[in-house]
Amino acid sequence: MKPKILITHKTFPEVLDYFKDKIDCEVDALERSMTKSEILDKIKDKQGLLPLLVDNIDREVMDSAPSLRIISNVAVGYNNIDIGYAKKRGILVTNTPGVLTETTADLTLALILAVARKIPQAHQFTREKKFKGWELDLFLGKEITTGKRLGIIGMGRIGKAVALRAAAFKMEIVYNDPQKLSAEEEKKYGASWRPLEELLSSSDIITIHTPLETETYHLISQERIRLMKKEAIFINSARGPLVDEQALAAALEKRRIWGAGLDVYEREPEIEGKLLSLENVVLLPHIGSATHETRLKMAMMASRNLVQGLKGEKPENLI
Ligand code: GLV
Repeated sequence: MKPKILITHKTFPEVLDYFKDKIDCEVDALERSMTKSEILDKIKDKQGLLPLLVDNIDREVMDSAPSLRIISNVAVGYNNIDIGYAKKRGILVTNTPGVLTETTADLTLALILAVARKIPQAHQFTREKKFKGWELDLFLGKEITTGKRLGIIGMGRIGKAVALRAAAFKMEIVYNDPQKLSAEEEKKYGASWRPLEELLSSSDIITIHTPLETETYHLISQERIRLMKKEAIFINSARGPLVDEQALAAALEKRRIWGAGLDVYEREPEIEGKLLSLENVVLLPHIGSATHETRLKMAMMASRNLVQGLKGEKPENLI
Protein backbone atom coordinates (compact mmCIF):
# COMPACT_ATOMS: atom_id res chain seq x y z
CA MET A 1 0.00 0.00 0.00
CA LYS A 2 1.24 3.50 -0.88
CA PRO A 3 2.22 5.65 2.12
CA LYS A 4 -0.01 8.66 2.68
CA ILE A 5 1.47 12.05 3.56
CA LEU A 6 -0.29 15.05 5.07
CA ILE A 7 1.18 18.49 4.38
CA THR A 8 -0.52 20.96 6.71
CA HIS A 9 0.25 24.06 4.66
CA LYS A 10 0.83 25.55 1.24
CA THR A 11 4.27 24.37 0.16
CA PHE A 12 6.78 24.88 -2.65
CA PRO A 13 6.23 23.03 -5.95
CA GLU A 14 9.74 21.56 -5.47
CA VAL A 15 8.48 19.69 -2.40
CA LEU A 16 5.59 18.09 -4.28
CA ASP A 17 7.93 17.17 -7.18
CA TYR A 18 10.37 15.64 -4.70
CA PHE A 19 7.71 13.37 -3.20
CA LYS A 20 6.56 12.35 -6.67
CA ASP A 21 10.14 11.51 -7.59
CA LYS A 22 11.35 9.73 -4.48
CA ILE A 23 8.50 7.68 -3.17
CA ASP A 24 5.32 6.21 -4.52
CA CYS A 25 2.92 8.01 -2.20
CA GLU A 26 -0.33 9.92 -1.91
CA VAL A 27 -0.02 13.54 -0.81
CA ASP A 28 -2.84 15.41 0.88
CA ALA A 29 -2.29 19.18 0.82
CA LEU A 30 -4.21 22.38 0.33
CA GLU A 31 -3.22 25.73 -1.15
CA ARG A 32 -3.42 27.19 2.38
CA SER A 33 -2.73 26.32 6.01
CA MET A 34 -5.02 23.73 7.55
CA THR A 35 -6.90 24.33 10.77
CA LYS A 36 -6.43 22.01 13.74
CA SER A 37 -9.77 20.34 13.05
CA GLU A 38 -8.82 19.77 9.40
CA ILE A 39 -5.55 18.22 10.53
CA LEU A 40 -7.40 16.00 13.02
CA ASP A 41 -9.70 14.84 10.27
CA LYS A 42 -7.12 14.37 7.53
CA ILE A 43 -4.42 12.70 9.64
CA LYS A 44 -6.54 9.57 10.29
CA ASP A 45 -5.12 7.41 7.49
CA LYS A 46 -1.67 9.04 7.14
CA GLN A 47 1.79 7.61 7.79
CA GLY A 48 3.75 10.83 7.30
CA LEU A 49 3.10 14.35 8.56
CA LEU A 50 4.84 17.54 7.41
CA PRO A 51 3.80 20.33 9.81
CA LEU A 52 4.93 23.90 10.38
CA LEU A 53 5.95 25.29 13.76
CA VAL A 54 2.48 26.82 14.13
CA ASP A 55 0.80 23.40 14.03
CA ASN A 56 0.31 22.06 17.52
CA ILE A 57 1.07 18.36 17.11
CA ASP A 58 -0.15 17.12 20.43
CA ARG A 59 -1.47 13.88 21.83
CA GLU A 60 -4.90 14.50 20.28
CA VAL A 61 -3.40 14.69 16.77
CA MET A 62 -1.29 11.59 17.31
CA ASP A 63 -4.24 9.70 18.80
CA SER A 64 -6.19 10.47 15.63
CA ALA A 65 -3.46 8.86 13.55
CA PRO A 66 -3.10 5.18 14.37
CA SER A 67 -0.70 4.51 11.48
CA LEU A 68 1.45 7.65 11.80
CA ARG A 69 5.18 6.79 11.54
CA ILE A 70 6.95 10.11 11.18
CA ILE A 71 6.43 13.80 11.95
CA SER A 72 8.85 15.93 9.98
CA ASN A 73 8.74 19.49 11.27
CA VAL A 74 9.59 22.27 8.81
CA ALA A 75 11.53 24.16 11.51
CA VAL A 76 14.56 23.79 13.69
CA GLY A 77 12.52 24.35 16.87
CA TYR A 78 10.12 21.56 17.78
CA ASN A 79 8.32 22.87 20.85
CA ASN A 80 5.07 22.50 18.84
CA ILE A 81 5.35 18.71 19.02
CA ASP A 82 4.70 16.52 22.06
CA ILE A 83 8.02 14.70 21.74
CA GLY A 84 7.44 12.56 24.84
CA TYR A 85 4.18 11.21 23.49
CA ALA A 86 5.64 10.65 20.01
CA LYS A 87 8.42 8.61 21.59
CA LYS A 88 5.92 6.58 23.56
CA ARG A 89 4.01 5.89 20.35
CA GLY A 90 7.21 5.07 18.44
CA ILE A 91 6.63 7.94 16.00
CA LEU A 92 9.83 9.44 14.58
CA VAL A 93 10.25 13.22 14.85
CA THR A 94 12.68 15.27 12.76
CA ASN A 95 13.61 18.96 12.39
CA THR A 96 15.67 21.19 10.07
CA PRO A 97 18.86 22.27 11.86
CA GLY A 98 21.71 24.16 10.21
CA VAL A 99 20.06 25.48 7.07
CA LEU A 100 18.54 28.52 8.79
CA THR A 101 21.44 29.44 11.06
CA GLU A 102 22.99 32.22 8.98
CA THR A 103 19.64 33.68 7.91
CA THR A 104 18.38 33.89 11.49
CA ALA A 105 21.67 35.40 12.68
CA ASP A 106 21.38 38.00 9.90
CA LEU A 107 17.91 38.94 11.07
CA THR A 108 19.11 39.19 14.66
CA LEU A 109 21.75 41.72 13.62
CA ALA A 110 19.15 43.54 11.54
CA LEU A 111 16.93 43.81 14.63
CA ILE A 112 19.79 45.07 16.77
CA LEU A 113 20.57 47.77 14.22
CA ALA A 114 16.91 48.60 13.65
CA VAL A 115 16.34 49.20 17.36
CA ALA A 116 19.63 50.94 18.07
CA ARG A 117 19.39 53.27 15.07
CA LYS A 118 15.57 53.65 15.08
CA ILE A 119 15.40 52.59 11.45
CA PRO A 120 11.65 51.75 11.24
CA GLN A 121 10.72 55.04 12.90
CA ALA A 122 13.03 57.03 10.63
CA HIS A 123 11.70 55.20 7.58
CA GLN A 124 8.13 55.99 8.56
CA PHE A 125 9.04 59.64 9.17
CA THR A 126 10.67 59.91 5.74
CA ARG A 127 7.74 58.22 4.01
CA GLU A 128 5.40 60.68 5.63
CA LYS A 129 7.42 63.48 3.99
CA LYS A 130 8.46 64.85 7.37
CA PHE A 131 12.12 65.13 6.43
CA LYS A 132 12.70 68.87 6.19
CA GLY A 133 16.49 68.90 6.34
CA TRP A 134 19.49 67.62 8.26
CA GLU A 135 19.39 68.28 11.98
CA LEU A 136 21.96 67.63 14.64
CA ASP A 137 19.59 65.63 16.77
CA LEU A 138 17.33 63.91 14.25
CA PHE A 139 16.68 60.27 15.24
CA LEU A 140 19.59 59.92 17.58
CA GLY A 141 20.18 56.27 18.26
CA LYS A 142 22.66 54.19 20.16
CA GLU A 143 26.18 53.23 19.26
CA ILE A 144 26.51 49.47 19.04
CA THR A 145 30.13 49.24 18.01
CA THR A 146 33.44 49.59 19.73
CA GLY A 147 33.36 48.22 23.19
CA LYS A 148 29.63 47.79 23.64
CA ARG A 149 28.93 44.48 25.28
CA LEU A 150 26.71 41.92 23.58
CA GLY A 151 25.31 39.21 25.85
CA ILE A 152 24.29 36.06 23.99
CA ILE A 153 22.05 33.67 25.91
CA GLY A 154 22.27 30.25 24.25
CA MET A 155 25.51 29.66 22.39
CA GLY A 156 24.38 27.03 19.92
CA ARG A 157 24.53 27.29 16.14
CA ILE A 158 22.62 30.57 15.91
CA GLY A 159 24.24 32.17 18.98
CA LYS A 160 27.66 31.46 17.49
CA ALA A 161 26.67 32.87 14.10
CA VAL A 162 25.49 36.05 15.86
CA ALA A 163 28.84 36.24 17.70
CA LEU A 164 30.81 36.10 14.46
CA ARG A 165 28.76 38.96 13.05
CA ALA A 166 29.01 41.03 16.23
CA ALA A 167 32.80 40.61 16.23
CA ALA A 168 32.85 42.47 12.90
CA PHE A 169 31.13 45.34 14.71
CA LYS A 170 33.93 45.23 17.30
CA MET A 171 31.53 44.40 20.09
CA GLU A 172 32.67 42.71 23.25
CA ILE A 173 30.92 39.35 23.43
CA VAL A 174 29.88 37.43 26.52
CA TYR A 175 27.62 34.40 26.53
CA ASN A 176 25.72 32.10 28.80
CA ASP A 177 24.95 28.50 28.00
CA PRO A 178 24.65 25.41 30.20
CA GLN A 179 27.49 24.06 28.09
CA LYS A 180 30.64 26.15 28.21
CA LEU A 181 32.58 26.34 24.95
CA SER A 182 36.12 24.97 24.83
CA ALA A 183 38.90 27.53 25.23
CA GLU A 184 39.60 27.14 21.53
CA GLU A 185 35.98 27.89 20.59
CA GLU A 186 35.79 30.82 22.97
CA LYS A 187 38.78 32.24 21.13
CA LYS A 188 37.23 31.57 17.74
CA TYR A 189 34.02 33.41 18.67
CA GLY A 190 35.79 36.02 20.78
CA ALA A 191 33.31 35.23 23.55
CA SER A 192 33.64 34.60 27.25
CA TRP A 193 31.19 32.76 29.50
CA ARG A 194 29.34 34.65 32.25
CA PRO A 195 26.70 33.58 34.76
CA LEU A 196 23.25 34.56 33.44
CA GLU A 197 22.67 37.22 36.11
CA GLU A 198 26.02 38.87 35.38
CA LEU A 199 25.39 38.76 31.63
CA LEU A 200 22.02 40.45 32.11
CA SER A 201 23.28 43.19 34.39
CA SER A 202 26.40 44.05 32.40
CA SER A 203 25.38 43.81 28.72
CA ASP A 204 24.40 46.72 26.50
CA ILE A 205 22.59 44.43 24.11
CA ILE A 206 21.12 41.06 25.07
CA THR A 207 20.01 38.47 22.55
CA ILE A 208 18.51 35.07 23.30
CA HIS A 209 19.00 31.91 21.23
CA THR A 210 17.96 29.01 23.43
CA PRO A 211 15.44 26.32 22.49
CA LEU A 212 12.04 26.51 24.18
CA GLU A 213 11.81 23.72 26.72
CA THR A 214 10.14 23.33 30.09
CA GLU A 215 13.34 24.60 31.74
CA THR A 216 13.65 27.68 29.52
CA TYR A 217 10.01 28.85 29.70
CA HIS A 218 10.11 32.49 30.96
CA LEU A 219 13.87 32.28 31.33
CA ILE A 220 13.69 36.04 30.91
CA SER A 221 11.39 36.63 33.85
CA GLN A 222 10.34 39.89 35.47
CA GLU A 223 13.14 39.52 38.04
CA ARG A 224 15.73 39.00 35.35
CA ILE A 225 14.44 41.91 33.26
CA ARG A 226 14.97 44.04 36.37
CA LEU A 227 18.66 43.15 36.26
CA MET A 228 19.13 44.70 32.82
CA LYS A 229 20.76 48.10 32.42
CA LYS A 230 18.50 51.08 31.90
CA GLU A 231 20.27 51.56 28.56
CA ALA A 232 19.95 47.91 27.48
CA ILE A 233 18.46 46.65 24.24
CA PHE A 234 16.80 43.22 24.34
CA ILE A 235 16.41 41.07 21.23
CA ASN A 236 14.38 37.88 20.77
CA SER A 237 14.42 36.01 17.48
CA ALA A 238 14.11 32.57 19.10
CA ARG A 239 10.78 31.74 20.76
CA GLY A 240 8.27 34.04 22.47
CA PRO A 241 7.60 32.03 25.64
CA LEU A 242 11.28 32.29 26.60
CA VAL A 243 10.32 35.76 27.79
CA ASP A 244 7.63 37.02 30.14
CA GLU A 245 6.12 39.27 27.49
CA GLN A 246 3.94 41.26 29.88
CA ALA A 247 6.90 41.99 32.12
CA LEU A 248 8.99 43.01 29.12
CA ALA A 249 6.24 45.33 27.85
CA ALA A 250 5.95 46.92 31.30
CA ALA A 251 9.72 47.45 31.50
CA LEU A 252 9.74 49.07 28.06
CA GLU A 253 6.78 51.26 28.90
CA LYS A 254 8.40 52.46 32.10
CA ARG A 255 11.74 52.90 30.29
CA ARG A 256 13.42 50.49 32.66
CA ILE A 257 15.28 49.32 29.55
CA TRP A 258 16.04 51.33 26.42
CA GLY A 259 14.50 49.22 23.69
CA ALA A 260 13.64 45.82 22.30
CA GLY A 261 13.51 44.04 18.97
CA LEU A 262 11.14 41.11 18.77
CA ASP A 263 10.50 38.61 16.00
CA VAL A 264 8.59 36.15 18.19
CA TYR A 265 5.80 36.36 20.78
CA GLU A 266 4.38 34.40 23.65
CA ARG A 267 1.00 33.68 22.05
CA GLU A 268 1.58 34.09 18.32
CA PRO A 269 0.04 35.62 16.35
CA GLU A 270 -1.28 37.60 19.33
CA ILE A 271 0.97 40.31 20.70
CA GLU A 272 0.81 41.93 24.11
CA GLY A 273 -1.20 45.09 23.43
CA LYS A 274 1.26 47.50 24.99
CA LEU A 275 4.07 46.40 22.70
CA LEU A 276 2.06 47.44 19.66
CA SER A 277 2.00 51.07 20.68
CA LEU A 278 5.42 51.57 22.26
CA GLU A 279 7.95 53.72 20.42
CA ASN A 280 10.99 51.85 21.72
CA VAL A 281 10.14 48.43 20.27
CA VAL A 282 10.64 47.02 16.79
CA LEU A 283 8.23 44.20 15.97
CA LEU A 284 8.53 41.63 13.20
CA PRO A 285 6.17 38.77 12.27
CA HIS A 286 8.42 35.74 13.01
CA ILE A 287 10.54 36.05 9.86
CA GLY A 288 13.94 34.97 11.23
CA SER A 289 14.47 32.34 8.54
CA ALA A 290 12.37 34.03 5.88
CA THR A 291 14.42 34.14 2.73
CA HIS A 292 13.29 32.18 -0.28
CA GLU A 293 16.55 30.22 -0.31
CA THR A 294 16.38 29.24 3.35
CA ARG A 295 12.69 28.39 3.47
CA LEU A 296 13.11 26.18 0.41
CA LYS A 297 16.10 24.47 2.05
CA MET A 298 14.04 23.90 5.20
CA ALA A 299 11.10 22.47 3.25
CA MET A 300 13.38 20.18 1.22
CA MET A 301 15.29 19.00 4.28
CA ALA A 302 12.01 18.18 6.02
CA SER A 303 10.82 16.35 2.91
CA ARG A 304 14.03 14.28 2.78
CA ASN A 305 13.64 13.41 6.45
CA LEU A 306 10.06 12.33 5.80
CA VAL A 307 10.93 10.12 2.83
CA GLN A 308 13.83 8.52 4.72
CA GLY A 309 11.52 7.75 7.64
CA LEU A 310 8.79 6.32 5.42
CA LYS A 311 11.33 4.11 3.64
CA GLY A 312 12.41 2.68 6.98
CA GLU A 313 15.79 4.44 6.92
CA LYS A 314 17.13 6.54 9.80
CA PRO A 315 16.24 10.13 8.94
CA GLU A 316 19.14 12.56 8.69
CA ASN A 317 17.77 14.89 11.38
CA LEU A 318 16.12 12.56 13.83
CA ILE A 319 15.40 14.14 17.22
C1 GLV B 1 11.83 28.95 13.19
O1 GLV B 1 11.43 29.63 14.06
C2 GLV B 1 12.30 27.61 13.33
O2 GLV B 1 12.30 27.05 14.44
O3 GLV B 1 12.70 27.02 12.32
